[in-house]
Amino acid sequence: MMKVLLINGSPNAKGCTYTALTEVASTLEAEGIETELIHVGHKDIRGCIGCRKCHTTGKCVFDDLVNETASKFEESDGIVIGSPVYYASANGTLISFLDRLFYSTSFDKSMKVGASLVSARRGGCTATFDELNKYFTISNMPIASSQYWNQVHGNTPEEVKKDIEGCQIMRTLGRNMAFLIKSIALGKEKYGLPEKEPFTPTNFIR
Ligand SMILES: Cc1cc2nc3c(=O)[nH]c(=O)nc-3n(C[C@H](O)[C@H](O)[C@H](O)COP(=O)(O)O)c2cc1C
Repeated sequence: MMKVLLINGSPNAKGCTYTALTEVASTLEAEGIETELIHVGHKDIRGCIGCRKCHTTGKCVFDDLVNETASKFEESDGIVIGSPVYYASANGTLISFLDRLFYSTSFDKSMKVGASLVSARRGGCTATFDELNKYFTISNMPIASSQYWNQVHGNTPEEVKKDIEGCQIMRTLGRNMAFLIKSIALGKEKYGLPEKEPFTPTNFIR
């Protein structure tokens, strides 16, 4: 069965970000895709120290939720990252988690579908949305989009539910993501994954 991981980057287990993620998840489920939600934002997750040990071991030296999530991510067909907007940016704990998750894992993420969503009282949504999407665009991952940038507005889940357009954007995202995942599965069968060139790092040295 196809599967999507959903990451709640808010410290609030059942807050606004969760409410938006749930709207996406139930749409994915209705489309026959299994979902699993992982709560990250309340955890004590430190940032990457750039030790590069993961290059040899294939996992992070800090053996916490990052390594636990890595195997689930490997088995998933897609991932949805949700964050509350903090000072026009993503939640710091979530960024520490994502830096370490994406940097420490060497499995092929090609054509796993990514999507991100943000929740804010008022401002900083698109900057945060762009920040989160950058993990996908360095990982050969196509991004599922919606009818608008994936944002909901509110300080409480009740306010988010009153954001009728925001909730619709989440459901559209779920349907578009399901379609992409199913289409990619067919495409992989018919054409296989795109050919990869050997990596040629140049580090701006000439
Ligand atoms: C430290 C902090 C910074 C915040 N910065 C912003 C901000 O820049 N723009 C905004 O509209 N809301 C801001 N908020 C409000 C939250 O983004 C908003 O309430 C969000 O929906 C909370 O989601 P949650 O219930 O999932 O935690 C901030 C909240 C906190 C705690």
